[in-house]
Parts: sequence; C-alpha cells; structure tokens
Amino acid sequence: MFPLGGANALESRQRHAHPRIRPRRPLITTPIKPASWTYAEEFVAEDDILAAARARAEEVGVTPIGSGGGAALRFLASVLDARAVVEIGTGTGVSGLWLLRGMRSDGVLTTVDIEAEHQRLAKETFNDADIPANRARTIAGAGLDVLPRLTDGHYDLVFCDGDKREYGAYLAEALRLLRPGGVVAFDNALWHDRVADPAQRDEETVAIRDLGRTIADNEALVPVLLPVGDGLLVAKKVWTPEA
Ligand SMILES: C[S@@+](CC[C@H](N)C(=O)[O-])C[C@H]1O[C@@H](n2cnc3c(N)ncnc32)[C@H](O)[C@@H]1O
Repeated sequence: MFPLGGANALESRQRHAHPRIRPRRPLITTPIKPASWTYAEEFVAEDDILAAARARAEEVGVTPIGSGGGAALRFLASVLDARAVVEIGTGTGVSGLWLLRGMRSDGVLTTVDIEAEHQRLAKETFNDADIPANRARTIAGAGLDVLPRLTDGHYDLVFCDGDKREYGAYLAEALRLLRPGGVVAFDNALWHDRVADPAQRDEETVAIRDLGRTIADNEALVPVLLPVGDGLLVAKKVWTPEA
C-alpha cells in the first residue's frame, strides 16, 4: 500500500529523506567466474534474424550491442510498456530489433544514425523480423542535429549508442525527451574495461566516465550500471510532483 500521492510521490519523498548513499568501499560478495558471465550473457538466446543483423554489422564494421544488453533493452521496453522509443546509433538494427520486440505491438521506434547505409541494413533486419514499416522511423543525421527536433516529454525510453564523446549531450536531450518515469540507457558504459581504469584518459573514456558521475550525482535520476556486455548504464527519470 502506498500513502496518499501514490508510488511516485512516495519514491520522491524517500529520495529526499535519504540523499544518495555512497558506499565507503566496494562490496563484492561473490567474485564471478568468466563462465558465469558467459552464461548470463547468453541466457536469452538470439534467433537467426539477429544473427543475420550481426553478420551485416560485421560487413560494415559496426559493433552491435551484446546479447545480454539486447535482452536488457527488450526487458526495459517491456516493463515500460513502451509506445515511443528513441535510439541514437541505429547500426544494422540489432539493438533496434530487441527494443521493438519489447515495446507494445503498436509502439514506434525513432532511430537516428549518421550513416544512411547502416539504416538501409537495419531496415532489412526489421523487414526480416516482419516489423511493420510504420513501427520504425529511421532518421539519417547526426544525433545532436536530430534530437532537438523531437517532442519534449513524449518518449518512454531513450537508448544512446552513437558517438561516445557526445554522451553528455545525449543525456541532456534525453532528459528533455523523456516523460516522467521514463528511462535513459547508454551502451558501452564500461568501454572495454577502460572506464574503471583511472590511467585511461582518452576522449571517449573520459566522456563516458564523466557521464557516469553526472548520472550518479543527479537527484532526479535513479541509476544502475548493469554489467552486461560492455556495460549498460540505465537511469529512470523520477517523477517530481509540482511544489
Ligand atoms: C555502435 S554502433 C550502433 C549499434 C546499434 N545500436 C546496435 O546495437 O545494433 C554506432 C552507430 O552510431 C552511428 N553514429 C556515430 N556517430 C553518430 C552521431 N554523431 N549521430 C548519430 N549516429 C552516429 C554509427 O554510424 C553507427 O552506426
């Protein structure tokens, strides 16, 4: 039972009563063996259509999300009962197909990529999967040119997998695009084990590390870093009732 104001108001009050807790030392209860990571990554199997999308990705030199991350995206789209999702970085449609399979059957994926050829290949993927053409709105262009043209507060989920150096700017756009209770997700949050290593100072690693701190410190977000694949950083935009 939730008190007056419902679950969202309760969640908001709890967050204000208990500022973000920072553990003094890492708490890892059980070290996980590589075989268990593999088992978890492959727990939800991919079909031949996703395998074909991965083959197209290899041909054009695109790295799709891993199968564990894809399954997490489908899960998120499903629990959100998502009808409107934005993706930055279409690639050949691996993540897009996972998202579409989790969304409502009438949900629309708006997916942006700077490479029109990648989007042509993604359309083949969606077509192979019998996704109706009106469920995938592909927009060719740079993420930061296209996102400002999309409608405020209209989207349930924003998935970012474009230029890693632009992740901070994608977050700002995502917070505007998401409805209260919506979720933003970033692939490659661990960036090939570089983010956790302070000696790594290249532009992409620093951008992803900065994004993690920004999200962890934002009181309007409920974050979790899922160690699937190359890391999936997920955050819910908390409903903040009017004062
Ligand atoms: C890692 S791949 C995306 C893979 C895809 N999300 C998947 O899992 O199947 C990154 C994609 O982002 C695109 N990209 C790179 N910079 C971009 C930008 N500034 N705006 C939009 N797309 C961009 C690339 O062309 C590439 O297709």
